[in-house]
Amino acid sequence: MKLENNSTIKKVKNKVLLSDSVGKKISTVDTEKVLYDHLYPKFGQRFLDYRKKYENYLNDSNHKVQPSFPVSLILELVNRCNLECVMCFQGYRNDTKKNTLNLEILKKIFKEFKKEKLDALLLSTSETLLHKDYPEILKMAEEAEIMDQFLFTNGTLLNEKNSNLILKSSLTRLFISIDAVTNETYDKVRIPVNKKIINTNRLNQIENNVKNFMKLRNSLGKKIPLVRVSFVALDTNQHEIDDFIKKWEKIVDSVEIQKESSIDFYKDFEKSVDIKSEKIRVKNHLSSNIVLIFIFCT
Ligand SMILES: C[S@@+](CC[C@H](N)C(=O)[O-])C[C@H]1O[C@@H](n2cnc3c(N)ncnc32)[C@H](O)[C@@H]1O
Repeated sequence: MKLENNSTIKKVKNKVLLSDSVGKKISTVDTEKVLYDHLYPKFGQRFLDYRKKYENYLNDSNHKVQPSFPVSLILELVNRCNLECVMCFQGYRNDTKKNTLNLEILKKIFKEFKKEKLDALLLSTSETLLHKDYPEILKMAEEAEIMDQFLFTNGTLLNEKNSNLILKSSLTRLFISIDAVTNETYDKVRIPVNKKIINTNRLNQIENNVKNFMKLRNSLGKKIPLVRVSFVALDTNQHEIDDFIKKWEKIVDSVEIQKESSIDFYKDFEKSVDIKSEKIRVKNHLSSNIVLIFIFCT
């Protein structure tokens, strides 16, 4: 066994094994307590029931118990991203027609969420901050009494204006995906749609956005939204895992090192020439205003 670059990467006969840190979440604060302190006074027993349902979900690997309405949903506001990360399916749909969920449709969706007492909402899958009305949508989430509200972002648009808007909202979790410690690796993993901005110190800008957000949040005496930075472990970036943890663990609330999920389904379509019409069908489907509804927990 040969150790390479970094003690956590083991290379055996040219096969790169995943670092021991993959799948781990390192938290400097008790995130569950912060959430409890913030949400229990507002929602009481309903919050406790939500956390219980989430815990049950984690313990029920076969997901035998199905609720009548999902506890947690992923909602996609736009079908595009300003990045095309190597491991992400987004690159397979960015060249299709741009679509955005409009406020009229969203009002109907949130009405349903309120009626069904949705516990948690995840704004994700593309780049939520590209939706110009996202502050209004967060307001809708608050009015729909959704307790736990997540926003996943690549951090490119987390400027001062957006940071202030987010801090005025009822968002409970801000998840920023970074995946690198050096500009070189960042450029290999988080590829911009606008190729002209490769090699322009983009990582530095994103790191500053996150640090400034933390300073602003902390200066307001707030512990919410909880901030997590994440890193999907790939062959290209694994050697930076330890440094990533060291860099962020004292700045944000949690650092998460994640395992890559397969997107072969999309790759196969991309490669195929024989099933061109099928590929177009799938692309059209992906380009539509999809409200992704995944049952995240029971
Ligand atoms: C698809 S992105 C969308 C939200 C936002 N644009 C962002 O970059 O965080 C949501 C999360 O999925 C992660 N992700 C993308 N492709 C993945 C893959 N193949 N396996 C595991 N996680 C992946 C991203 O790193 C990010 O944390």
